[in-house]
Amino acid sequence: MTMNPQPEPKLFLSRQEIARTVASLAAEITKEYCDKNPLLIGILKGSFVFLADLVRLLNFPLEVDFIKLSSYGRGRSTPGELKVVQRFKCPVKGRHVLIVEDIVDTGQSMAFLTEYLGKKKPASLRLCVLTDKPPRRQVEVNIDYLGFSVPDKFLVGYGMDWDEKYRNLPDIGYVELEK
Ligand code: IMP
Ligand code: MG
Repeated sequence: MTMNPQPEPKLFLSRQEIARTVASLAAEITKEYCDKNPLLIGILKGSFVFLADLVRLLNFPLEVDFIKLSSYGRGRSTPGELKVVQRFKCPVKGRHVLIVEDIVDTGQSMAFLTEYLGKKKPASLRLCVLTDKPPRRQVEVNIDYLGFSVPDKFLVGYGMDWDEKYRNLPDIGYVELEK
């Protein structure tokens, strides 16, 4: 069986830097949400590692759910029509909702999702994002809690994939993609 060689990611953010940043995001979120029993909604699949680390630093009552949007497929091509392909179970109406996402790139996914969830009448709706790529933005997105602002590189690791690979890397790296 022939296997396509996988590019070796170059280190971009170490696990220690990530841990420090996740801890400071958790401290900010605690101040705001400790008495609000918030609903944290992770976006599958990329946010699963970030969300897992984040919630273990939040020492107050909260609930967790997940939502999956239609996929981008391989590489970085922009999506067609965005759709929710896996619905969450927890009712959103009247809840303090915090969306947890790995990366905002063009902004299309988060713009779509905030509109989608906004219609369900949450008490509040905010966005917590580990990495943001402002140079790629096409639509405005208001990020309330941001870990890192990053340049236009394709990031992998800590939940983020390239063609479903590298999600398990404990650090965040980048791969050079053929244009
Ligand atoms: P947006 O809708 O263009 O903002 O894209 C957001 C989604 O695209 C993210 O949630 C990721 O799943 C994926 N994505 C965008 N940039 C990267 C990247 O650099 N590495 C891995 N996934 C990415
Ligand atoms: Mg994502």
